[in-house]
Amino acid sequence: MVGVASRRAAETMIANGEVVLNGAVVTELGTKVNPQNDVVKVNGQTYSLAQKLVYILLNKPKDFITTASDEKGRRTVLDLVNAKERIYPVGRLDRQTTGVLLLTNDGMLANKLMHPSSEVIKTYHVSIDKGLDTVHAEKLANGVYLEDGKTAPAELEIIPGTKSREVVIHIHEGKNRQVRRMFESFGYEVDRLHRVEYAGLNVQGLQRGMWRYLTDREVKSLKKLVASGSEISIKP
Ligand code: URA
Repeated sequence: MVGVASRRAAETMIANGEVVLNGAVVTELGTKVNPQNDVVKVNGQTYSLAQKLVYILLNKPKDFITTASDEKGRRTVLDLVNAKERIYPVGRLDRQTTGVLLLTNDGMLANKLMHPSSEVIKTYHVSIDKGLDTVHAEKLANGVYLEDGKTAPAELEIIPGTKSREVVIHIHEGKNRQVRRMFESFGYEVDRLHRVEYAGLNVQGLQRGMWRYLTDREVKSLKKLVASGSEISIKP
């Protein structure tokens, strides 16, 4: 019994009728418990098995992959965050992409944020290998045909004074390697890709590789965002 007793001791407690699950004495060994909803009492004392929900904002550096574990032993974003809860990344960033990445153990919120219907806005700073042609810029904004379908309209700004090699793009989809593929489809190579903003959250004040917990206000705003389906701004 997690955090209460060893397996042997737990079996003895169950045999002695000392364990109560949702008001009923547990009689069977191996009874399954739902950590989030079930109430377990041992000798009258209530134990919470629910994991504390945590929400983390990481400024992802290059060379870390966005999965919970990697069979090739590569470094993952979880190596950067020493949380004791079983958190995982909300969506993916490529290994070489930097910037805003959310991690949480709140599966409900994560799934809503990742669901296409939520249309969460992601803003990327893209550095490309040559100046962006204005015709291409317009096409990128209107939608590009990729092998897995046409991209939704995006907003695009060319950063002045960069010879059109630095672009900010706002998208609300999450196709795999979407931004890189959009630019590659017109013959540009993406030299650097940095996620500036995700659902109104940015990494201002967080150095690359550093993370912080979201404030209660930020968590509330994210929940409101996916509940209403409309983007709102979040101030820490
Ligand atoms: N688009 C990409 O191409 N890569 C990312 O990491 C995120 C968005």
